[in-house]
Amino acid sequence: MEDELLEELDQTERILSAEADNTDGVLDYTLRPQKLADYIGQEAVKDNLKIFMEAAKTRGEPLEHVLIFGPPGLGKTTLAHIIANEMGGQIKVTSGPAIERTGDLAAILTNLSDGDILFIDEIHRLNKSIEEVLYPAMEDYALDIVIGKGPSARTLRLNLPKFTLIGATTKVSGLSSPLRDRFGNIYRLNFYQPEEIGQIIKRAAGILAVELGDEAAEIISKRARQTPRIANRLLKRVRDYAQVKKDGKINIEAANEALQMLEVDSLGLDHVDREYLKLILEKFNGGPAGLNTIASALSEDMDTIEDVIEPYLLQLGLINRTARGRTLSDAAYEHLGQTPPPRIL
Ligand SMILES: Nc1ncnc2c1ncn2[C@@H]1O[C@H](COP(=O)(O)OP(=O)(O)O)[C@@H](O)[C@H]1O
Ligand SMILES: [Mg+2]
Repeated sequence: MEDELLEELDQTERILSAEADNTDGVLDYTLRPQKLADYIGQEAVKDNLKIFMEAAKTRGEPLEHVLIFGPPGLGKTTLAHIIANEMGGQIKVTSGPAIERTGDLAAILTNLSDGDILFIDEIHRLNKSIEEVLYPAMEDYALDIVIGKGPSARTLRLNLPKFTLIGATTKVSGLSSPLRDRFGNIYRLNFYQPEEIGQIIKRAAGILAVELGDEAAEIISKRARQTPRIANRLLKRVRDYAQVKKDGKINIEAANEALQMLEVDSLGLDHVDREYLKLILEKFNGGPAGLNTIASALSEDMDTIEDVIEPYLLQLGLINRTARGRTLSDAAYEHLGQTPPPRIL
């Protein structure tokens, strides 16, 4: 049973993964809104940002550093690009794992201009020595360089342009507190309401020039895990299906058939989610099951389980995180067609 499970996970590409895959590049790019007005949902974040951007512009200062966190596919990268557009600065894009040596970061910083945005994706994966270079850069727009070695070594302080750092992370607890404290604005992105996802795919259908009925849009948005990236990806798959099997228009029938073929269920769960739930049900009697045990049974790493698979299951109230491990809720039993066990209160 376990071997079958592993094989299945290996063979089947995960259509509902909120992380970008190699087919998403062009799609993400063409569908990415450029202005705050086109960024759907996240109203509190947008209201806040508008004020901060306006205030910085009025004072003629760069925007304070911004940290954006939330599960994959909710619009962190998109928001960073929008901020750069709205502030009229150039954006330089890099990521935590891409910066290997302090020299790499120094080169990036010294090549910036006033008002530029430096976007560091997956900022929780920066290593400690590189983080330390960022502190004076963020605080004083300064770069401290050590010249020479041993007793004759001295530090030279270079002034940097007045830039804004935008950090994005799926794992805010992975950031050290000195780094977190240096961000003036911290925004958490939330899962989207179904109506917002509906608006996002209607907008996307317009850009992709595909006819999409209202009911069909609703069907797709209910299964998109409240995540724009998944909504756009499902739309694209349904469009392909409609073009090959139907007359190219996305109506209720085309949407339902395509989603059934993709094995996306009524809650927007895919086979990976269902295997996760079945594992806890069948092997751990409903839990508690420890994170590392689950990870090894599914042959995923713990971070993927915690940051990618679990947030949506938690959001739906299908699982609980307890001190002793993960447990299934009654709703999860019902979704799997099982009777929940009697609970002793
Ligand atoms: N608020 C939004 N409004 C419209 N489209 C969005 C929004 N947020 C994300 N998207 C769409 O979802 C895709 C993935 O978003 P992205 O910013 O790459 O997510 P993240 O960086 O958080 O993983 C984008 O290309 C964009 O098309
Ligand atoms: Mg991103």
